[in-house]
Amino acid sequence: MAPPHVDMIFDGPVAELYDRHLVPLIFEPYADNLADHVAALTPERVLEVAAGTGVATRALSRVLADHIELTATDLNQPMLDQAASIGTERPVVWRQADVMNLPFGVDEFDVVACQFGVMFFPDRADAYREVARVMAPEGRFVFNTWDRLEANEFADAVTAGVTTIFPADPPQFLPRTPHGYHDESLIRKELAEAGLEMDSMTMLEARSRAETPEIPAIAYCQGTPLRNEIESRDADLLGTATAAATAEVQRRFGSGPVDSLIRGFVVTARLAR
Ligand SMILES: C[S@@+](CC[C@H](N)C(=O)[O-])C[C@H]1O[C@@H](n2cnc3c(N)ncnc32)[C@H](O)[C@@H]1O
Repeated sequence: MAPPHVDMIFDGPVAELYDRHLVPLIFEPYADNLADHVAALTPERVLEVAAGTGVATRALSRVLADHIELTATDLNQPMLDQAASIGTERPVVWRQADVMNLPFGVDEFDVVACQFGVMFFPDRADAYREVARVMAPEGRFVFNTWDRLEANEFADAVTAGVTTIFPADPPQFLPRTPHGYHDESLIRKELAEAGLEMDSMTMLEARSRAETPEIPAIAYCQGTPLRNEIESRDADLLGTATAAATAEVQRRFGSGPVDSLIRGFVVTARLAR
């Protein structure tokens, strides 16, 4: 089997820094919203894919009654280890799983949920086929995805700052992957290729806040696969690149506390009729 693309690798140091800095910065505001969407569908069996360090799982565990089965999966075991170390208010089945080859049978779940994970899947139509396969006939797929880089202002500033250190070959992880999947017609097309049809796609804006400009810089440069891209150019420049990102966040948003726009979309889909 081919090794995972560098954008899919969230290993030990990334998992810890992701959870400590990036989750409160950009993921927490969306997790409650995703959980409310899922709870409104009154499911009995819920699968979460690409659950990461479990921020949406914890939100789901707060709103789903104890008898509802909740299974949370992710490709990268270090992310699940971090999630398990935090724990949940109710039982959750944690399981390592690649969305491209889900270890579940047909019609096993009423809702499949995914928070900011679809952008990472190496072939989204194939991944969506797996989601459709494990989903009950009346089931729903609920996921979210970020808008373009410029509408997510810390990510944009960090990308600009890091570019000053590698001007000839700037790392493109943020525009390429997390902020590279927001075109509604493309999302509809890839869902349709998997036998799914979009019910809705709703824009959701929030604010991203941190005490200092250094926090967003560390969060993105060291707590995401952007770190892999920086270190593959020159591992000794991780600190320098983080400092350049800090300087650009400070230039745009001040010396702290800092506050910026984040924007994503919430999508719901069902099996095509
Ligand atoms: C931006 S994180 C989102 C994590 C979490 N849902 C959250 O809201 O914090 C993307 C996640 O996708 C996972 N991932 C990437 N490729 C995957 C795949 N093929 N199958 C399952 N998970 C995958 C990564 O391990 C990572 O945890």
